Amino acid sequence: MKKILLSGVKPTGRPHIGNYFGAMKQFVDLLNSGNYDCYFFLADYHALNFIQNREEMARNILDLTIDYMAIGLDPNKATLFKQSDVSAHTELSCIFDTLVTMPYLQRAHAYKDAQAKNVEINVGTFNYPVLMAADILLYNTDVVPVGQDQKQHVEYARDIAQKFNNVFGETFKLPEPLILEHVATVPGTDGQKMSKSYNNTIPLFATRDEIIKAVMGIVTDSGSDVPANVYAIHKLFRPESDLKTLYGANKGKYKALKEALIEDIDAFVKPLRERRAEIAKGENTVNKVLQRGGSNACLIASTKLIEIKQKIGVL
Ligand code: TYM
Repeated sequence: MKKILLSGVKPTGRPHIGNYFGAMKQFVDLLNSGNYDCYFFLADYHALNFIQNREEMARNILDLTIDYMAIGLDPNKATLFKQSDVSAHTELSCIFDTLVTMPYLQRAHAYKDAQAKNVEINVGTFNYPVLMAADILLYNTDVVPVGQDQKQHVEYARDIAQKFNNVFGETFKLPEPLILEHVATVPGTDGQKMSKSYNNTIPLFATRDEIIKAVMGIVTDSGSDVPANVYAIHKLFRPESDLKTLYGANKGKYKALKEALIEDIDAFVKPLRERRAEIAKGENTVNKVLQRGGSNACLIASTKLIEIKQKIGVL
């Protein structure tokens, strides 16, 4: 029996190289290893906390499906689906709500960050870890490849699974996060974690002009031989043994080093960009992939939900 792997991305706009190296590249590598039964989904109900516009949401969903396919997630080998197509996710989330306390959810990073910024938080964001636990646990997931920022959420899923098992009997496996140390937190152009909300991203499918603009905007600290923020991004695209020579020969020459980085990113992104453009021509095919994946996911999830409903005594 193969292990079960599941992960998701929110359709909130173009993915960046942080999403790619932190998580999406692992999706492709682990799928191609042949060792896992893979489920990759679009977390559209999670995205609804951020995108509350019909056209934008619909566009983002289509775009992220194309992105998934363009990085090499073969819909014939993995189940690619949309969270909202499988109503068992929200149903299970509602069941889990009865097991989870408010103080427990108040410890979540996302909630604490919102509180620190004094922004009003909606119930969807507060409850985010519970819906995410449902996403993961419905499929008897063994491993969840993610970036470091999602580690706490996978721990919530484990805790909730354990709580349910204690109350209602053994039902859920405890999932493990899969985080690669060297890309756990990919830095952005300002050295902080790369994130859309910090406006410091390099889009994964960037045009050459966008790459130039982003790299030229990388914050450099004058005075040092090696511009740390440039190097940190560069090592995603080239082995450090190469970089030692390059940075050794160009000490303090920030412009030359940025130009080298532009070439390396563009060489890497160009084939991805081209593959994406090809896939984007077949909108119908892309929609069919989601329909097929949704049906497949529904089969697995609804069987699990029946077991859960029997355990809690409503069926
Ligand atoms: P999302 O859409 O914010 O991000 C998708 C993936 O990208 C990773 N990531 C990063 N990794 C390294 N460095 C960075 N700078 C960086 N920025 C983002 C994230 O860790 C994530 O793995 N809550 C999830 C979506 C989700 C999910 C799930 C994931 C919903 N349900 C169930 C796994 C299992 C999220 O918001 O990801």
